[in-house]
This record gives sequence, C-alpha cells and structure tokens, in this order.
Amino acid sequence: MKAVVCRAFGLPETLLIEENSPPIAKPDEVIINVFACGVNFPDLLIIQNKYQFKPGLPFSPGGEVSGVIEAVGKKVKHLKTGDRVVALCGWGGFAEQVVVKANRVFPMAQGMDFINGACTLYTYGTSYHALKDRAQLKSGETLLVLGAAGGVGLAAVELGKVMGATVIAAASSKEKLNTCKEKGADHLVNYSEEDLRARLKEITQEKGVDVIYDAVGGKLAEQALRSIAWKGRYLVVGFTTGEIPQFPANLPLLKGCSIMGVFWGSFAEREPQQSLQNLGELLSWMKSGKIKQHIHKVYSLEEAPQALEDLMNRKVIGKAVVKVRTWAEDVPAPKVDSVKERTADQIIAKPLKVKLADIKKYVGQSLAVTDWFLVTQEIINEFAHATQDNQWIHVDVERARIQMPGGKTIAHGYLTMSLAAKFFYELIEIEGATTAINYGLNKARFPVAVKSDSRIRMTGKIVNVEDMPNNGIKLFVECTIQIEGEEKPAYVGELLTALY
Ligand SMILES: NC(=O)c1ccc[n+]([C@@H]2O[C@H](COP(=O)([O-])OP(=O)(O)OC[C@H]3O[C@@H](n4cnc5c(N)ncnc54)[C@H](OP(=O)(O)O)[C@@H]3O)[C@@H](O)[C@H]2O)c1
Repeated sequence: MKAVVCRAFGLPETLLIEENSPPIAKPDEVIINVFACGVNFPDLLIIQNKYQFKPGLPFSPGGEVSGVIEAVGKKVKHLKTGDRVVALCGWGGFAEQVVVKANRVFPMAQGMDFINGACTLYTYGTSYHALKDRAQLKSGETLLVLGAAGGVGLAAVELGKVMGATVIAAASSKEKLNTCKEKGADHLVNYSEEDLRARLKEITQEKGVDVIYDAVGGKLAEQALRSIAWKGRYLVVGFTTGEIPQFPANLPLLKGCSIMGVFWGSFAEREPQQSLQNLGELLSWMKSGKIKQHIHKVYSLEEAPQALEDLMNRKVIGKAVVKVRTWAEDVPAPKVDSVKERTADQIIAKPLKVKLADIKKYVGQSLAVTDWFLVTQEIINEFAHATQDNQWIHVDVERARIQMPGGKTIAHGYLTMSLAAKFFYELIEIEGATTAINYGLNKARFPVAVKSDSRIRMTGKIVNVEDMPNNGIKLFVECTIQIEGEEKPAYVGELLTALY
C-alpha cells in the first residue's frame, strides 16, 4: 500500500512516499481502507518528535481518517467489514490503510461525505468540549478566539455563535478574518496589525472578555488574560506559536478568573458517555446546517507533505484534507425521478384489489409495475452482515471500483430475490385474506446482476391458483424484477403465496 512515511524526525519536506506492506489487525483492532485524512497541527508536531504521543520510527503521520472497514479483529463486535467510518487513529492516516483500536472508530453519520468525515471530530469535538464542558459558555457572554481561522479556532467561532455568545475573532490576516466573519464572528481583531488589549477594551466597553479560547499561546496569551472579565475563563487549548505562556499568578487572583486546561483526547477516553453526547449534538447541528466545516483545500496523498508545509506556514484557513483515494461518491448519485421526469410506464399503478373468494377469476391477469427501489451499498452491506456472506464483490467498494465491470459492487442474488416479497404487496391487495405467507420461489433465474446504487422495480402476473387444505389458497405470481436502463431483468421467478 502507498503511504507517506516519516523515517527520521524533521520538517514536512523530509517525509517520503513509499510502498509499504499492509497492516495486520490485533483482536481489538480494525483495518480501515482510508479514503481521506484530516490535516491537524499535531501531525506537524509528531513528525518533529515534539508531540505528547511518540510513535516509533518509521511511521506515517495523519491522526484523523474517514474510510471503509476492510477487516475487523476477532474481539470486535460493533463494527463490520464494509462499514463507513471515521476514526481517531493518532497517526498512520496518510496511507491507503490504517489499523486502529476499535474503540476509536465511529460509524460515519448518514449524509456525511468522506472529506467532511475526515476533519470534523477533532476540531468540533475539541472546541465544543472546551466551550461547553470546561468554560460553560453562556448565551450573552463574550468569547475571544485566538487563532480564530485555524481548524479548532474556526470551529470555536461557529460553536460560540450557536451557543449564543458574542464572538470576537482574532487572527493574523484580513483574509482569515473575512472567513471568521462569514462564520458569524461579531468583531474582528487583526493581531498582526492591531493592539489586542486596546481593541478588547473598546469592544467590551472595558468589561473584559468572559471566555478566552487560546489555541496559539505565545505573547498574545498574557495580553489576552489581562483583558479577561471578572470570573472569566481562560481556555488553554494549544501553542501553535511554539511558546508555552508563563502567567504571573497575581492575574487570576485580581480577575477572580480561572485558567482551564483542555485535553479533548483524554476527556473522550475518561468520560466517553459525555463525549458521545457532545458528538451527537454536533452531528445534529451539522445535519440542520447550523455548523459546516470550512474546507481550505483537498490535497492528494503525494501532496500530504505540502499540506503540512502549508499548515506550518499559516496558509491554511479552516481545514486541509488529504484525499487518499477516489470513491464511488465522486460519481453523482442517481437522481430520484421527479413527477415531471417520469414516463408513462414508470407511473406506479394502484395495487390490484382482489377479493379472496374471486381470486381464481384473475388467473392470467397482469399486475402493474411498482415504484423504483434504490439498492444502496448500505442495503447490500446489511444483507451481507445478516447472511454472513461478505464476498468482496458485494462489500468491497474500492476493489470493485478497480476490478468489477462498471466499477460497482453487486447485490447478492438472494437479496434481489427476497425483494420480490416486498414488491408483491405493492402490486396486489387481497381483501378477505387474514393471512398471506410468501413461502417459496419457483423457477428462479438471475439474468443480470444488480449493481449497487441502481434502481429496480417489479412487474407480475397471476399465473395459477390452487386449493390447499384448511380452506387455504396457493397463489402463483410470476415476477420480473427490472433494472433501470437494462434490457434484461435482474430476476424472473414464481412467487408462491399461501392465503387464508
Ligand atoms: N487541547 C486539545 O485537546 C487540542 C485538540 C486539538 C488541537 N489542539 C491544539 O490546538 C492548536 C491548533 O490546532 P489546529 O489543528 O487548529 O491548527 P491550525 O489549523 O494550524 O490553526 C492554528 C492557528 O494558529 C495560528 N498560529 C500562530 N502562530 C503560528 C505558527 N507559528 N505556526 C502555525 N500556526 C500559527 C495560525 O493563525 P494566525 O496565522 O491567524 O495566527 C493558525 O491558523 C494546536 O496547538 C493543537 O495541538 C489541542
């Protein structure tokens, strides 16, 4: 597999692109086919041996990924091959595959794409924990964000607004501050040109700032602390300037304020319930559009060192993401028909209403056609999981992209066939029957395989009716499952239904 490798600690330019052997999972780990990997400041620190976690050389940087599970260790129960996931791997993400402890892997939210999946947990997770659990930011309070256009900073700006605060964004350039403004910042301070203390005095009308979110450290830190309000909270998040601030102890005394440490990784491990609740709240805000990641640029795997270089040179606004491979979502999803687009034969007819007592009269009767049904990868994966038939042609999207005709996985034949029973009830309604059991399929044939993300529908014909013991009736319906755009059907067979 292709990977960006750190063989000797140093700057991004020292990283190498290599072909490595794929990882092996221990019983509590999973292997993820990496689709995208977020670029975070700790990636820069880790390759220089300046981070709190120190992997042995050689290793690949990249701490936050999105992708699809390739394999799971024996003890892993809550994840399976084919799941779309996001993971906090710490390092190893700038590679085609990464091995991660299963408890650091989470199902990717529905509707989220791989790019956003790779850069969401870390920034929003950190900033929400800082503002909610540590500072307990209240609506109406003022929030100052230092390094406001960086990954965690911009998330803090957005979250501060959602939480009802007046947000003061501070950053080093006009361009960066413009993005903060787009994200809702109420006041902007360019600390490379303006005096931070004077501006904060002016903005807060000398009251001081209630909460300070500091992801940069250095000289600005003490200036900011001197501008804090009575009972203010100062959040120590990071030191991108490379300088850990030293505060005189009289400052918190005089201000009655608290200096609070923020360590999201530890919080998530020590307080998993609270952390999961936070993530749930963040996801619902993402779904409703209240918060949205700002993607600066998407880099290729080969460009990962450049992405780190840009981060180091303060060129990145919001998030940089490395796209490790191309995926099916690059191809637009099939459009759902609007009423206008439908041709006459696509209009779903009402189900045929038949009285049980009269059913013999309907032998030879053709039934209408059902509405289209989209066979998604998710449905195929669920079927694979339920039947324990995990052949790659069904579940391995990436391999199928390369090896299957049309570049798509295919649905199991039995999945297509089992949908005949679902479609049956859209075609016929039998009055007077208290029980209908679809108990068999005769003469099944599968002329064409159903590719993932294609749409299928069924037509039918009543071909026979036979009496059964206990006043039951055996109904034979010839079913044809069609694939949109295909001449030959996916399935032809007789569905047997016992009616009482
Ligand atoms: N405590 C935690 O749990 C936690 C979690 C996640 C991240 N962090 C830390 O938070 C910090 C920010 O992480 P991030 O991923 O958001 O980084 P980022 O996207 O690079 O943003 C950092 C910001 O820092 C500013 N900066 C000032 N001096 C810099 C320098 N010498 N080099 C680079 N940037 C400089 C830049 O803004 P200007 O140019 O506008 O000054 C930049 O936008 C890091 O220290 C990281 O380790 C902590």
